[in-house]
Amino acid sequence: MSASKRTIVITGGSKGIGRAICLRFAREGARIIFVHYDPDDLAERKTLGLLDKMNVEAVSEKLDVSSFRDVEAFFQKVVKDFQKVDVLVNNAGITRDAFLMRMSEEQWDQTLQVNLKSVFNCTKAVTRSMIKQRSGRIINISSVVGQIGNIGQSNYGASKAGIMGFTKTVARELANRGITVNAVAPGFINTEMTQKLPDKAKEAFLSQIPMGRIGEPDEVANTVYWLASEDATYITGQVIHVSGGLYM
Ligand SMILES: NC(=O)c1ccc[n+]([C@@H]2O[C@H](COP(=O)([O-])OP(=O)(O)OC[C@H]3O[C@@H](n4cnc5c(N)ncnc54)[C@H](O)[C@@H]3O)[C@@H](O)[C@H]2O)c1
Repeated sequence: MSASKRTIVITGGSKGIGRAICLRFAREGARIIFVHYDPDDLAERKTLGLLDKMNVEAVSEKLDVSSFRDVEAFFQKVVKDFQKVDVLVNNAGITRDAFLMRMSEEQWDQTLQVNLKSVFNCTKAVTRSMIKQRSGRIINISSVVGQIGNIGQSNYGASKAGIMGFTKTVARELANRGITVNAVAPGFINTEMTQKLPDKAKEAFLSQIPMGRIGEPDEVANTVYWLASEDATYITGQVIHVSGGLYM
């Protein structure tokens, strides 16, 4: 096992932005560990196939990141098997949209558990080993919706704003331990999550984007990669928007 090879853990790595992040880190030859919670393993296998073509070591698992116990057990195994985690990318996320008046308690709870509690679970689980090694990068995927809101997404917006508050607080707690904690807030990105939106909602988003186009998963992945690189050693507690100007 090469000591110089970085170990990267990415949640929600089977598709969309998470897959692009896996592939971006694979370009440096890093060891990629990703989890997902898809009903089947089609997307997982596709990502593994792409990583295999790049000749990188890759491991994947179906894991519900909203489960505190399962996440704890997963990270214990990762640290036992690979000794360290250099970068954690908390990317897993879901939408359960409804107007507030129609939103069920289940829609609220599920979204907060998967999008926000998971970030607490994974960050807490990885922190001990990062503190020991006195280095680490944690990057949380928030959303422009956490900053400016969006009709029908009170649960999602709250979870993504929660990620921003969590990021800043943990960044302060870990700053003198050699660990940086930042968030990336994508705007409207071309993935399954947005492909399922009604055409009207897509047009409404597009009309608000100064750059006049949807973003690609690679454009988010590049920013995540940069935050985990030697070019971003003095950046912590920040929320970087990747939104074509949707928020400025
Ligand atoms: N697509 C966008 O326009 C956009 C914009 C802003 C923010 N985001 C955020 O970016 C992240 C990725 O979004 P995407 O568009 O690539 O989504 P996607 O639906 O394409 O992929 C979501 C990933 O999360 C995983 N996941 C879902 N629930 C999980 C759970 N309980 N445990 C573990 N993994 C789980 C899925 O298996 C999948 O790998 C999300 O956090 C999302 O909120 C996306």
